[in-house]
Amino acid sequence: MGLADGTSSDDSPRRRPRDSRERTQGRRAFLTAALGLGLCFSSPEGAFALADDPRTARPRVGDVFVFPFGEREGQIVTPADLPLGGPQQQAYPMDPSAKVVRNGSALNLVLLIRFDPAEMTDETRALAADGVVAYSAVCTHQGCPVSMWQAQAKNLFCACHATQFDPRDHARVVDGPAPRRLPMLPVRMTNGVLTVAGEFTGRVGGERL
Ligand code: FES
Repeated sequence: MGLADGTSSDDSPRRRPRDSRERTQGRRAFLTAALGLGLCFSSPEGAFALADDPRTARPRVGDVFVFPFGEREGQIVTPADLPLGGPQQQAYPMDPSAKVVRNGSALNLVLLIRFDPAEMTDETRALAADGVVAYSAVCTHQGCPVSMWQAQAKNLFCACHATQFDPRDHARVVDGPAPRRLPMLPVRMTNGVLTVAGEFTGRVGGERL
């Protein structure tokens, strides 16, 4: 009696070792190239997932922003959703054509905040759109999400070790142990919709991430 195991006739035991060697060599070449670019992966499978999955790809020019959680998850965030002067709203970028939300990596979580443009430094205003600024939500200290807000100072606050960032000045570190600013994500208005206008201004993640 024949057994159906889902393999083709070409997938004989004699064939498998060579296929395995070919896959290994292909993956080795990919990983060598990736390491040459300074990329780090926890496993080869992780490397291929990152390379192939648009959900884990970093924000691309033209992406829109959507609510990441809650009742409005997946809906587009508009400037009217952002209270003037803060606090921040978390968001994920989304490819508007494919409708792919880039929520496959925690490093893609973004903070949106709206200010009077007159309050911003020139450098910050140049990367903002109609007073809206976008920053990586990942603390540059040890990678916690920057989830709190200091209403009086209008600063972003990371509760893990109490770093404060000034979002009107390119997320300058005001106090605390974080070694550098939060990377900024340039934005612009496209037909009235807030979209990504460029890459993050620096490496996203904490000191060891
Ligand atoms: S992880 Fe944010 S201050 Fe330490």
